[in-house]
Amino acid sequence: IHDQYKILEFKDLGDERGNLVVVEGEMDIPFAVKRVFYIYGSDLDVVRGQHANRKTEFVLINVSGTSKVKVDNGTETAIIELNRPRMGLYLPINVWKDMYDFSQDSVLLVLASEHYDASEYIRDYEQFVKEVGVSNE
Ligand code: TYD
Repeated sequence: IHDQYKILEFKDLGDERGNLVVVEGEMDIPFAVKRVFYIYGSDLDVVRGQHANRKTEFVLINVSGTSKVKVDNGTETAIIELNRPRMGLYLPINVWKDMYDFSQDSVLLVLASEHYDASEYIRDYEQFVKEVGVSNE
């Protein structure tokens, strides 16, 4: 699993006026950004995500607050805590992800490599295991 995600550290171009973090597609992250969404106002007991994607790569950034992401390749899992505005989590295709433990001030920014297409989401875990099992053979 550890080769199926990457922790990114973005540079801070801030000065005495404050912080400035820049994320450029195909430079600071390995894809061109086609979609941006952000998640906030989720309670501590909420679990989001719970899907895998056949085509979309993501970078997750907690620009405020903290959350945890559990990634699962069908065999192994890893838990990553997003707890710094300069930290990014890169996720390739075909990993199952759960996002949870959102702090009250959590704003989770997500950069995506594709436009939204419901048909490339795998929302059934058994189906996911079946598909990654096939693609690993
Ligand atoms: P969902 O996938 O459950 O969000 P999360 O990954 O944060 O758990 O999405 C919730 C709803 O919003 C669902 O009906 C699909 C829709 N949606 C879009 O239309 N476009 C998007 O880019 C996203 C992420 C979701």
